[in-house]
Parts: sequence; structure tokens; C-alpha cells
Amino acid sequence: MAEINRRLREENLRGELDKKRLEREIARLQDLVLELSHENKRLKHELKQFKSPPQLVGQVVDTLDTGDVIVKNGAGQTFLVSVSPKIEAPDLKVGTRISMDRNNLTVMRMLPPSKDPVIGAAEIIERPVVTFDDIGGLDDQITEIREMVELPLIKPDLFREVGITPPKGVLLVGPPGTGKTLIAKAVAEKTNATFVRLVGSELVQKFIGEGGRLVRELFQMARDKAPAIIFIDEIDAIGAKRMSMDTTGDREVQRTLMQLLAEMDGFNALEDISIIAATNRLDIIDEALLRPGRFDRIIEIPMPDVEGVKKILEIHTREMNVAEVDLGKVADRLRDTTGAHVAAIVREAGMFAIRSERGNVTQDDFNKAAEKLGGKESGFDERMYH
Ligand SMILES: Nc1ncnc2c1ncn2[C@@H]1O[C@H](COP(=O)(O)OP(=O)(O)OP(=O)(O)O)[C@@H](O)[C@H]1O
Ligand SMILES: [Mg+2]
Repeated sequence: MAEINRRLREENLRGELDKKRLEREIARLQDLVLELSHENKRLKHELKQFKSPPQLVGQVVDTLDTGDVIVKNGAGQTFLVSVSPKIEAPDLKVGTRISMDRNNLTVMRMLPPSKDPVIGAAEIIERPVVTFDDIGGLDDQITEIREMVELPLIKPDLFREVGITPPKGVLLVGPPGTGKTLIAKAVAEKTNATFVRLVGSELVQKFIGEGGRLVRELFQMARDKAPAIIFIDEIDAIGAKRMSMDTTGDREVQRTLMQLLAEMDGFNALEDISIIAATNRLDIIDEALLRPGRFDRIIEIPMPDVEGVKKILEIHTREMNVAEVDLGKVADRLRDTTGAHVAAIVREAGMFAIRSERGNVTQDDFNKAAEKLGGKESGFDERMYH
């Protein structure tokens, strides 16, 4: 009897143990089921993503109070579209890269900014090919700019010794086509400096929302590649006086300008970087840009006088067969003109020779060219730049 009792107890105990073991097993399997259903969900989601059609990539141009946004697609078309509820509307800023649904253009996702916009915005010319010999007239202006830009790059120690700081920025002001870009390139060529050219209007139009960052990256690049000359062409596009700040676009331009001012304030004039800017419109430039330590030297690049026109003619006819031509007479005829216009007339005179199948260019070709293109550079209004 006692033996039976003992057996029963043992059996019971074993049963208990088995039960516990099975319970544990059940719990484990339940966990596994849960885990696998999660996995299942994840894979289904992934599959859906693989199956979903490609989305369009665009950029936010403006944000509206309604929560909708105005976007621009790669082809430059603008649309007013709504935003997927998955995106927090305040996160969308002007310039944010986004992807849009193909069908209804709803903004689906925010994308990180593109990697290296500097490459697209700035033209890096390690060594321009223009030399001072290619520039006619403007001798005084060239001397002045060389003293201000070239000397500090070549002989910073001399400036330290004497104890004066060279200007950080030089602003070239003058009508279109008078040689401002040429001068900047020649300076860079002479100093052997890296020449980084940035066009203000392009910065504003192409890189909405990224202007500030671009300016920062540009200065960083100039430091890395120093000695360097940063040339900001058409600076009025980012440096115009603030008339209004009504649109996001205006505020964005403002941000770009602020970043430029901060960068200019942030480096020492004796670092190996010089900044040259150019504009046709001094009248609309924000005074903040002209303060000491920024573009505190203004060099006027005027239209050439007769002597200047003659020199420009000589430069542009260097490779041409013009032995019979009295360039002085041509210059007399071309008063009130710009270098760009002179270059165009030279080209046209050459065309007249080619049209009559002559290998040499005559006085008459020049007369005809001047007549055809007019004596004066059109489209320039004196009032704009004084
Ligand atoms: N002083 C000059 N000597 C020789 N060529 C000149 C001169 N000025 C202008 N040119 C000719 O005109 C072209 C345009 O000149 P440049 O690009 O330097 O003008 P710019 O002053 O920068 O004009 P913009 O204000 O429109 O940018 C030059 O490539 C050159 O062929
Ligand atoms: Mg220019």
C-alpha cells in the first residue's frame, strides 16, 4: 500500500513537471507566433514598397498657411499640392527636397538635401587663361585692383610688417561688357590662385533654399584650395537693398546675403582668400555689403575712351589679317561703346571678309560691321549704374 502511494506521488510529481514544461513550451510558441506575425507584417510592407511606383522628386518653393505647399519638379514646373499626413507640415521648408506621388503629386517623403550643390553652382577654374595683356584700357583700374587683391596674396608679410590690413573685398562697378569678369580672371591667373566664380542670379534661381549653405561651402572650398579668389558676379542678385520681405523668396535671398556677410566677417584679410564682386547696379546694393571689412573698395570700370577702344581693337584683331586697316580710324567711329561691343564688331568685320571670300579684312569691312551693329552698345542705361 505504501508502495502504491509512493508511486502515485511520484507519478503526480512527474505530471506536475510535465505540465510546467508544456506550459513553458506553449508560452515560447506563442512568442514565436507573435514574432513571426511581426516579421510577416514587415515583409508585406517591404513588398508593397517594392511594388509601389517610382515617385517624382521635387523641391518646396513656398509653404502656405493651409498646410499645402508649392513645389517645383525637376523640369521646373510648379504645382500647388497637398502633403501626406505622415509628414509633419512644419518640417517642410522652402528648398526641402521631397518626393511626390506620381498620380496626384501629394508630397510623400522628405529627402535629404542633394550632396554637393557647390559643384553645380560655382565654376571652379584652377587657372583662368585670361591675362592682363588681353585687357584694353583700364590701366589705372588694373593697377588699383592688383594692389588690393594681388599684393596681399603674394606678400602678406609686407602688410603685416607695415601694419595695415588689405581690403577683404573689392567691388567692380560698371556697365555690362566693360571687362569686369576679364579683370577678375586676369588677377587670378597672375596670382596663380584658384578662381572660384559664383553667379548671384544663378544662386538665387537654381538653388532655392540652399543659398546660405552654398555660400558657406564655397568659402570652405576656397580655404581648402587657397590661395583663392572668390569672384561673385552679379552680386546685386543677392545683395540688393531690402525693399520688402513679403515673399519667402525674398527672405531666402536675405538669408543668402546674411550668410555671405557672416563669412566675410569670419575670416582674416590676410588669409589667402580675396573676394572680388561685380555689379552693374551700385544703386541697389545693400549698404551692409559696403561696410568696412566687407566690400569697402569700389572700383569703377568705365566705358573705354577712344584710346581704350583702339587698344581693345588691337587685342581682338591680334590673330586677324588686318594689315591695311587703320584701327585708330575705326576707334574714332566707335565712340561710346563697350569692350564687348568692340569684340562683336571685330567678329562681324571678319565675317564680311569671309562672305566676300577674302583672306584679309579691310577698312570697309569694319565700316560695314559698325553700321550693322550700331555704334553704341544697346540695352545699357547710364542711370542704372550711377
Ligand atoms: N577692356 C576690354 N579689353 C578687351 N576685351 C574686352 C574688354 N572689355 C570687354 N571685352 C570683351 O567683352 C567680353 C565681355 O567682357 P566681360 O565679361 O569682362 O564684361 P563684364 O564687364 O563682366 O560684363 P557683365 O557686367 O555683363 O558681366 C570679353 O570676353 C571680351 O571679349
Ligand atoms: Mg561679367
